[in-house]
Amino acid sequence: MFPKSMFFFLILTLTTASAEDVDFTYNGFGAAKLRLDGITEITPNGILMLTDTRRAAKGHAFLPTPLRFKNSTTGEALSFSTSFIFAIIPKYIDLYGHGIAFVLAHSVDLSYAFPSQFLGLFNSSSSDSTNQIVAIEFDTNMNPEFGDIDNNHVGIDVRSPKSINSSHAAYFTNDNGGGFKNLSLVSGKPIQAWIEYGHLDGLLNVTLAPIDVAKPGVPCLSSKVNLSSLISDYMYVGFSSSVGTFITSHYILGWSFKLNGRAQALDLSRLPSLPQIGPKLSLESWKIGLLIIVAILFILLVLICMIFLVKSKIKFREVFEDWELEYGPQRFCYKDLFLATKGFRDQHLLGAGGFGRVYKGVLPDTDIQVAVKQVSQESRQGVREFIAEIVSIGRLRHRNLVQLLGYCRRKGELLLVYEFMPNGSLDKYLFNQPKLMLSWGQRFQIIKGVASALYYLHEGWEKVVVHRDIKASNILLDDQMNGRLGDFGLARLYDHGTGPQKAHVVGSLGYLAPELTKTGKATASTDVFAFGGFLLEVACGRRPIDRRASEEDMVLVDKVLGCWKAGMILEARDPNLGSEYIVEEMEMVLKLGLLCSHPNCSSRPPMGLVMRILERDAPLPEVSED
Ligand SMILES: *[C@@H]1O[C@H](CO)[C@@H](O)[C@H](O)[C@H]1NC(C)=O
Ligand SMILES: *[C@@H]1O[C@H](CO)[C@@H](O)[C@H](O)[C@H]1NC(C)=O
Ligand SMILES: *[C@@H]1O[C@H](CO)[C@@H](O)[C@H](O)[C@H]1NC(C)=O
Ligand SMILES: *[C@@H]1O[C@H](CO)[C@@H](O)[C@H](O)[C@H]1NC(C)=O
Ligand SMILES: *[C@@H]1O[C@H](CO)[C@@H](O)[C@H](O)[C@H]1NC(C)=O
Ligand SMILES: *[C@@H]1O[C@H](CO)[C@@H](O)[C@H](O)[C@H]1NC(C)=O
Repeated sequence: MFPKSMFFFLILTLTTASAEDVDFTYNGFGAAKLRLDGITEITPNGILMLTDTRRAAKGHAFLPTPLRFKNSTTGEALSFSTSFIFAIIPKYIDLYGHGIAFVLAHSVDLSYAFPSQFLGLFNSSSSDSTNQIVAIEFDTNMNPEFGDIDNNHVGIDVRSPKSINSSHAAYFTNDNGGGFKNLSLVSGKPIQAWIEYGHLDGLLNVTLAPIDVAKPGVPCLSSKVNLSSLISDYMYVGFSSSVGTFITSHYILGWSFKLNGRAQALDLSRLPSLPQIGPKLSLESWKIGLLIIVAILFILLVLICMIFLVKSKIKFREVFEDWELEYGPQRFCYKDLFLATKGFRDQHLLGAGGFGRVYKGVLPDTDIQVAVKQVSQESRQGVREFIAEIVSIGRLRHRNLVQLLGYCRRKGELLLVYEFMPNGSLDKYLFNQPKLMLSWGQRFQIIKGVASALYYLHEGWEKVVVHRDIKASNILLDDQMNGRLGDFGLARLYDHGTGPQKAHVVGSLGYLAPELTKTGKATASTDVFAFGGFLLEVACGRRPIDRRASEEDMVLVDKVLGCWKAGMILEARDPNLGSEYIVEEMEMVLKLGLLCSHPNCSSRPPMGLVMRILERDAPLPEVSED
């Protein structure tokens, strides 16, 4: 078979003048002879590529010779019919421009024309081109300055980018009783267009349809146009296209044309296939993607916050049992103590003793300074009794007691909250060349304070409270250097904790009454024994047992006793004091220390008597040797 296009080519070259029966069909442009300019080219597989992936460019393809468009005798425009298949593929789904136009032009020199919205046919200087141009535009942009109806329309342009008539791109379908169905010009899919002009009724019809739909019976745009007055005798026929900022490829796959008759139908099976480059995600889609990512991040953040919240809930969860209800006011919540001590940080550590670590803290809301003692308490046994006791002790009020403000209980941990004592513990001021030495007056004041606190514990309350651990390091000094007895009752915890093993002895070496080591039973009298040790510590400025001293001086009581027996008890006094002390008071304190430290518990004075002796309301009993 002789290819039609070749056939046309032969005819065309022979009959430019008598073009009345011009009739050609290109099913692909492989063999077509067209006049191309701008960026237009024919691809190796036969696609007429009006624009490629360049920006701000235009491209044209025309038949190389003009056709006689008018009847030579009547001077009227001839009827014509054309059909072509095009595809517009934008790089980004929703950023594209500007479209394709089927063009009748008097001159193919379109160098003056602009790309973008001018479609490579017009320019901005004059709305009316001096070139005689009639174009049917397939416009994918809305340009308000040209009165565009939308960004997906078909329009008829006469010498101007302002369309004389236009219509939204759509095709008529008989589905659902018949009607127009929208058609996206930039879908990237091939679209077939038919353009027909009848010189009798002067109607220019533009019909559209997707490639797999037969030609609809109703045109998309049907407009009265008297071409006779708009064109000259000879007109070039072809296509124009332009791109602006957004990369868009415009393709034509096949084209048929006929003057004075109906153009041949295109053979769809012979059309070249479109390059397989789908449009990419556009900026818009990126924004949506970004939004989704942000949303996911947000959700993650919320989740993390929730996990954190739940964790902190667990962290600060309170262990609360029914029996604690009555202690409500004395019970602190863990979170407050955690915040007060900045999470039990080492910077807040005041000291670590036998019972646990002590932290300084500032209670949130009230700004009250407190000392928080962390008592490790592994066994649940006896906790209830212990807390009952702690709380009841907490109700004790004495100006020489360190006030217990409350407690907090957690799994395996007990926190006791005390008044904060700004000057720390007494031992710092007594032993090992202290930075700040206490005067005798201050020492005597502290002794009297501690004695009165102990007296209160033993006798001033409805039941005897045994302190169990009196020693210089358990005496704290308030802002006025008053001695305050701390940690009272704490030793009970160990009693309870160890359960039936009653023999477990609590206290500090050097302060333990001899009978305590035998019976393991703490009494007011064992407290007095320890108090005696404390008196000697304060008066002599050294610990009850000093391993660095000579053997006979190692135990303080023995040393003082030795001095007393030798008739020079004052020799035992703290050498740091020099002569800055009151002899009677010093002597009394040393003797009272010996008396209280008497190995025989019945020889020790009760605290009431101790108080009166210190106040000089009662004479000091004679110290016996055994
Ligand atoms: C031109 O018009 C005349 C008179 O109407 C007609 O006879 C002739 O066929 C027309 N020519 C063409 C090419 O249409
Ligand atoms: C616009 O196009 C016309 C021809 O239609 C030309 O004469 C004129 O110089 C062009 N103006 C510009 C600014 O290119
Ligand atoms: C077709 O497009 C026009 C203009 O954009 C719009 O008004 C109309 O609702 C669309 N019709 C359908 C069926 O989508
Ligand atoms: C143009 O469309 C109208 C309305 O459908 C129709 O009457 C007329 O015959 C069509 N003209 C051509 C040349 O197809
Ligand atoms: C077109 O215009 C010419 C004059 O320019 C006139 O003779 C002719 O009748 C018009 N044709 C139609 C269909 O209106
Ligand atoms: C413009 O196009 C519409 C839609 O095809 C048509 O109904 C209308 O008659 C046209 N206007 C003119 C002046 O031809």
